[in-house]
Amino acid sequence: MQKEKILIEEFLDKELPQENLKPEVLHKAMRYAVLGGGKKLRSLLAVSACKAVGGIVDNVLQAGCAVELIHSYSLIHDDLPCMDDDDLRRGKPTCHKKFGETIALLAGDALLTLAFEWASKAKTSNPNRNSEITLELAKFAGHCGMVGGQVVDIEVTGAIPSAGNLRFIHQHKTADLITAAVVIGGIAGNASEKQIEFLRTFGINLGLAFQYIDDILDCTESSEMIGKTAGKDVAAGKTTAVSVFGIEGAKEIAEKHKTMAINTLIDAGWENSNLSEISEFVIGRSF
Ligand code: IPE
Ligand code: IPE
Ligand code: MG
Ligand code: MG
Ligand code: MG
Repeated sequence: MQKEKILIEEFLDKELPQENLKPEVLHKAMRYAVLGGGKKLRSLLAVSACKAVGGIVDNVLQAGCAVELIHSYSLIHDDLPCMDDDDLRRGKPTCHKKFGETIALLAGDALLTLAFEWASKAKTSNPNRNSEITLELAKFAGHCGMVGGQVVDIEVTGAIPSAGNLRFIHQHKTADLITAAVVIGGIAGNASEKQIEFLRTFGINLGLAFQYIDDILDCTESSEMIGKTAGKDVAAGKTTAVSVFGIEGAKEIAEKHKTMAINTLIDAGWENSNLSEISEFVIGRSF
């Protein structure tokens, strides 16, 4: 999906506030956190879902990039000293290492609010449905979505890992936003209710597989390969797929979720779409 990734990166580069706009330091930090690295997985998922339901790329770019803004803000805040306290992200200093904690915090806030501006005015296949996109983003990024998952992730750090907490953390901190990305892609492509249902089932399973692999890579790959500090989860005493199930057990469950995601694509008749390609990438990736 190299072509789509370039379109996404060009869109973000063009539409994000430029560095010379006042307050310059804020706009520099926002651009630093979004551009120049990252897989752009969530926006690619939105584009792929839109195409799967018969929409065109032009009608999903801004909505998909709105999800990317939320993701980028979540990474800035995730890396802060009061959260995971990380120095390295995408092979570069984390946003607060580069710009200081105050600006990093505010750059996260600004990306979060900009995401809703983009979601509400995004060009789609049916402008009557923009409020659905905005609602989806609010629900899955918010207190019972990504933010809620992050709270429990932090709350149980250092506690004895349990499968129940793991599921809550994975579903909310990661799978919710990934699900929102595919559902938003579907809405932007004017999907039917049935299609949205398929996208939801696909998204949750892909999102869970994605976070299983993220937890495994923290244990099995070098910092150079993943572009973030390897071995950090064990050192911090995090509840992860590996601390609950071990590496082999975690791999098996990740594979199971991927198979469920692929089966949903088959049921929906989307087995030859980019959504399949992304699912294989998510499970086979080393970064
Ligand atoms: C990292 O997400 C945060 C998690 C939810 C695990 P990605 O691995 O998609 O990060 P980038 O955007 O590619 O850097
Ligand atoms: C973060 O999960 C999920 C977010 C909502 C940002 P992690 O803490 O495992 O993400 P990484 O490993 O730092 O990218
Ligand atoms: Mg974290
Ligand atoms: Mg982290
Ligand atoms: Mg991680």
